[in-house]
Amino acid sequence: MHNRPAIAIAGSLNMDLVVSMERMPKQGETVKGEQFHTVPGGKGANQALACARLGADAALIGAVGDDAFGSMMKQQMSTNNVRTDAIATIQDAPTGIATIMHAANDNSIVIVEGANGICTPAWTERHADIIRQAQVLLVQLEIPLESVRTAMQIARDSGVLTVLNPAPYVELPDDMLQLADYITPNESEFESLTGAVYGTEEELEEGMRQWGKEGPTLIVTRGGNGVSFLKDERLHTIKAPQVEVVDTTGAGDCFNGAFSVAIASGLDLEEAVAFGIKAASLSVTKFGAQAGMPTWEEVDAG
Ligand code: RIB
Repeated sequence: MHNRPAIAIAGSLNMDLVVSMERMPKQGETVKGEQFHTVPGGKGANQALACARLGADAALIGAVGDDAFGSMMKQQMSTNNVRTDAIATIQDAPTGIATIMHAANDNSIVIVEGANGICTPAWTERHADIIRQAQVLLVQLEIPLESVRTAMQIARDSGVLTVLNPAPYVELPDDMLQLADYITPNESEFESLTGAVYGTEEELEEGMRQWGKEGPTLIVTRGGNGVSFLKDERLHTIKAPQVEVVDTTGAGDCFNGAFSVAIASGLDLEEAVAFGIKAASLSVTKFGAQAGMPTWEEVDAG
């Protein structure tokens, strides 16, 4: 059984405005939606909630607006045992939102950052102790890059492990990459990172070998095809368990949260990836980015 690791998460909180449909529209096409839901999301909040649901002491550094969505997001975090003392309430920006087109096996997302864009390096610095006291810092890229860098630098200076989920992809300066212990792009983010396209397993293996030489430990998430990393220089892929997919939104966030908790609990790389992928596959069986985040016991039993 695991201990209760402390995970610091610096990242976004969004209200997700989700239209569900049977299939995604093609470019220029109108399709009839089936349902509309407003549910809590945002990569930072999703990852924090995933960690807390798995039993970690999770604290989120972030920002919301002084509006209804902002209080709902904070309420959602505290109800789910995520510490909210480092979530700023900003007067002159709205809470971030994401408009999501959702079909069972697919989604497409547009975000409007709002208050997430005002989660500043100074705010992050002010909550440095949360990072220093954690075993793992988990970050993504929906808050300003400089704030992510500040958080990672604080972690590195105090010997805290860092997991960088480079999503949504933005170009990352080399010195920032060096602050990451683990980096977890999905396949298209990895292609953006390297500026190459990988059509076969062999090409992916070679791409990972080349890119991974000196940087952080590279873990590429591949949706229903599983998660790949290098083991003795060879591509090693842990397959995703087959499940009935309801909503893939937040699956990557669940993987990152679960992986971070597993690493902080002392699991090795392969065990932590396997744990993360089991958790993520459970998360897609429920609707909404956060509703399907599993407990440790559920992952163990899966
Ligand atoms: O990773 C899924 C999340 O991305 C959604 O919850 C949405 O808010 C966007 O940030």
